[in-house]
Amino acid sequence: MKKIALVLFITVLFFYQSFADEGMWLPQLLQSLNEKQMKKMGMKINASDIYSISKSSLKDAIVSFGGFCTAEVISNEGLLLTNHHCGFDAIQNHSSIQNNYIRDGFWAYNKGQELTNPSLFATFIIRIDEVTNDILKGVTSNSTEIERQRIIDKNIAALKTTIKKESYQDVLIRAFFEGNKYFCFVTETYKDVRLVGAPPSSIGNFGKDTDNWMWPRHTGDFSMFRIYAGKDNKPAAYSADNVPYKPKRSLNISLDGVKENDFTMVFGFPGRTTQYLHSAAVKQIMDVLDPAKIAIREKALTVIDGFMRKDEGIKIKYAAKYASIQNAYKKWQGEVLGLRSKDAVGKKKQLEALFEKIVLAKPEMTAMYLNLLKKLEEAYAEIEPYALARDYYNEITQKIELGNVTTQLRSVVNAFEKDGEKGFINAKTGVLVSLENLFGEYDVNVDKKVFEVLMKMYVQDQKAANISPYFTTLVQNNNYEKAASAIYDQSKITSLESIKNLLNGNATDVVEAIKNDIAFKLVSDMAKTFSDNVAKKLAPLQATINSLQRLYMQAQLDVFSDKNFYPDANSTLRITYGNVKGYTPKDGAKYDFYTYLDGIMEKYKPGDYEFDVPAKIIELYKKKDFGRYGVNGKQPVCFIAANHTTGGNSGSPALDAYGNLIGLNFDRVWEGTMSDINYDPTICRNIMVDIRYVLFIVDKFAGATNIIKELKLVSKTKR
Ligand code: ARG
Ligand code: ASP
Repeated sequence: MKKIALVLFITVLFFYQSFADEGMWLPQLLQSLNEKQMKKMGMKINASDIYSISKSSLKDAIVSFGGFCTAEVISNEGLLLTNHHCGFDAIQNHSSIQNNYIRDGFWAYNKGQELTNPSLFATFIIRIDEVTNDILKGVTSNSTEIERQRIIDKNIAALKTTIKKESYQDVLIRAFFEGNKYFCFVTETYKDVRLVGAPPSSIGNFGKDTDNWMWPRHTGDFSMFRIYAGKDNKPAAYSADNVPYKPKRSLNISLDGVKENDFTMVFGFPGRTTQYLHSAAVKQIMDVLDPAKIAIREKALTVIDGFMRKDEGIKIKYAAKYASIQNAYKKWQGEVLGLRSKDAVGKKKQLEALFEKIVLAKPEMTAMYLNLLKKLEEAYAEIEPYALARDYYNEITQKIELGNVTTQLRSVVNAFEKDGEKGFINAKTGVLVSLENLFGEYDVNVDKKVFEVLMKMYVQDQKAANISPYFTTLVQNNNYEKAASAIYDQSKITSLESIKNLLNGNATDVVEAIKNDIAFKLVSDMAKTFSDNVAKKLAPLQATINSLQRLYMQAQLDVFSDKNFYPDANSTLRITYGNVKGYTPKDGAKYDFYTYLDGIMEKYKPGDYEFDVPAKIIELYKKKDFGRYGVNGKQPVCFIAANHTTGGNSGSPALDAYGNLIGLNFDRVWEGTMSDINYDPTICRNIMVDIRYVLFIVDKFAGATNIIKELKLVSKTKR
């Protein structure tokens, strides 16, 4: 008994203490929840300097970049800083054999040279308000999930019409704490965002896949854009007459760097985390779901890599696809490793024991939450085979391009069945554009081989009910190679040319021909099998879990009422803070918190795909020509800190105690990628490029002094 009490006591202590660095906080609540602690940790400004609706604050310099990354305004002419990997699509779109900006970099030496990007946008957050009561009005504890959602959708639609905003602003209402709270965001979206500069990939993506998710790191992962506005400074569609946006706020840039233990903040749009799961859910991710996805991706990556190494054309075509498959593959491995090594399941179980104890001690809580943990555990056990089948199906059908081609063609078929000839023609035009892109990054031999190895897993690793009966008829004697050849030979949807031919003719005949194509039939049968035998069972189980998790979230807020809670990331604006520090990745090793250009030279492999270094950098290094950006004869490159970040935080500014820009967030360390599920202050670190390395590249490497002149550089030590 004494032992249990001690364990519980330690759990409580850990639970409340571990919050020093953990958390992705809502900016409008900093004053009430975090300001005191932030100041204790070293912050020298006030919460109202970070978020305010009555004066300009740091939040006015932060944008959601295209909805998938973060960027910040760094000049009074709307200059934006974000990551190279966030701007990559834009850089790739402007690249050609003649102007290979991916390989060589791109710099606009005046505004006339900046390049437009039709689908890119930048969204500012004007204000954030809680609207829980309005949104949950009419919802009762007896509402079914479907009823609940219907009421919420209705309330959201009604509230949107009453929110005070300007005509050029938008309103967004989002659920927090698993739907226990709702917040409303008034936003301004600028749609004319132009490319200003990007270093060559040998700087912006130095170390590529080998170094991705790793520390020590030496990547100059940045690119620059500019927001353009109408003459009235308001959002406007692209026009040659638009003018550089005049921001309410732009960030000052500090040349002073950071020391160990310095206070830092990261301000941005983290995408998705799941911090409040039941231990059974964490165990399922760690033991079942992540390993399955890792195994599938490993097979696909091995195939693609084999082709890329042999063929230069394939290497270019598959570069982005390979990087994106590899990114999550490597992250999940780190996640499993971290969850295991830090016993995340054990910790959750201790927390659950404490929860149970408190619930049982208070009759009103007992009435509400008794058996909740048991129900969650049972629900996760029940959903497991379906969740696994879902991940199998999604991973496999998305890795095989034939699956994605079928999805496109199905939209043509559906449009015909709904709106006849007219629908067909409309859909066909759009689909041909998408397929043009898809086949630009496609090679039939690669896809056939990926198909062969993944479809083998699809059959061999799954129970019979989840397997397409049609596919079973196409495979003889477990010969997947032969089956793949037969399908790819017969199908008319494995090249853009043959699809164009297929789509030519009158709608009725074309739709008939699509429906009879062997590959289309196969992928459609896989979809039907999945829908009948997995999705239909998964949906109600998922609804049960959602409602139990919502109750469990409310229960945690209730039971641990002394604790400060932060909501899971949901692509809304958050601030995270922590101190600069190294870490111990494993027994016997200790990592420093800084890297220098010297490390780039150590990693340098002439002509290598990942570790080549531009000649100009080598020259500057040899001459130690670092200008104002070096310290003691060395050029800082990257640093790490204990800020709690996730995907979407890429491109977020790293700010010092005064709110000056000191770095650019772009990654996390591998051992700590489990921070999405279980943040651990001992090994979770975010990785940032030192802003002085960014400036060194812009100024000394690219000679883009026009950009440097726009910036406001500050320093306490004279430089
Ligand atoms: N790991 C980082 C993030 O999740 C950077 C990814 C881009 N770099 C790459 N080599 N794929 O997005
Ligand atoms: N690299 C991630 C991003 O692109 C950041 C992270 O996951 O730490 O947002």
